[in-house]
Amino acid sequence: MFPIHRPRRLRRTEAIRRMVRETVLTPDDLIYPLFVTTGKGVKKPISSMPGCFQQSTDEVVKTVKEIHSLGIPSVILFGIPEHKDELGSSAYDPNGVVQNAIKAIKDAVPELLVITDVCMCEYTSHGHCGIVNAGEVLNDPTLKLLQKEALSHAQAGADMVAPSDMMDGRVAAIREILDSEGYSHVPIMSYAAKYASAFYGPFREAAESAPQFGDRRSYQMDPPNRREALKEVALDIEEGADIVMVKPALSYLDVISDVKDNFDIPVAAYNVSGEYSLVKAAAQLGWIDHDRVMLEILTSIKRAGADMILTYFAPQAARLLG
Ligand code: PBG
Repeated sequence: MFPIHRPRRLRRTEAIRRMVRETVLTPDDLIYPLFVTTGKGVKKPISSMPGCFQQSTDEVVKTVKEIHSLGIPSVILFGIPEHKDELGSSAYDPNGVVQNAIKAIKDAVPELLVITDVCMCEYTSHGHCGIVNAGEVLNDPTLKLLQKEALSHAQAGADMVAPSDMMDGRVAAIREILDSEGYSHVPIMSYAAKYASAFYGPFREAAESAPQFGDRRSYQMDPPNRREALKEVALDIEEGADIVMVKPALSYLDVISDVKDNFDIPVAAYNVSGEYSLVKAAAQLGWIDHDRVMLEILTSIKRAGADMILTYFAPQAARLLG
């Protein structure tokens, strides 16, 4: 009790603050999302996400060299295909945009860990994450497409696959196909607790993946639900997920913390596009200190329990963290 206890003693200098700091962010914590498109020499700015681009494979190769030199261990790839159809067939084309990018990245920077987003929404003409029939997104038939997509990523050399579609049973389905085709060493990072969030708005411009009718609330989670996240995570772990993700991050720090407390496998959190764009917009208006807000946000996500953070801030943060 005061005056014996004076917590300010441990805050007087930066040296002592460093010694008692509980959470330390490092480039090791970061995964950088990249939007890969077709063509050559393409580096097209995404207007709602300043600093982010749609890039052709040759440009992606330049970017990943820089990412690697900044000490960031991993990237996650999203594809913007030339051709979209009802069944998202470009998603499992062996010469698809993501498949080609994986090969080019692994050739150029073999040490960099390449994760792929496994989902149909970037590849379907209707923009939903699965097969649509009479306005419904069908669960079980979609699993076959996700299996083909995940397998084709592994065949192209992906180090890890990350299903983000929220179909029931997809982790088991992907584990089964990877194992039976000789890819039992490829881990699955599942978007386990993925909420139907308005924070994905800018991403849908970036990935050209907005649903053409309706929304994703029949498959992504309802934002008010907390306990349901534990059920989703438990199911994915039972089905064979190696890493589980909570998404978005910032409005769901309670969920990250619950998942960390309840399970013993690594937890990822996705600091999504809208969370990024809000900071960029406020900084452009001169209303906040960009770098301090960025680091405070990333630190809060780690403090909540995330072992790794997918974030568009990765290179900017890594530069400051040194
Ligand atoms: C694909 C997918 C989405 C995001 C990652 N994978 C969009 C969505 O579900 O609509 C969002 C990422 C972001 O907003 O940064 N299903």
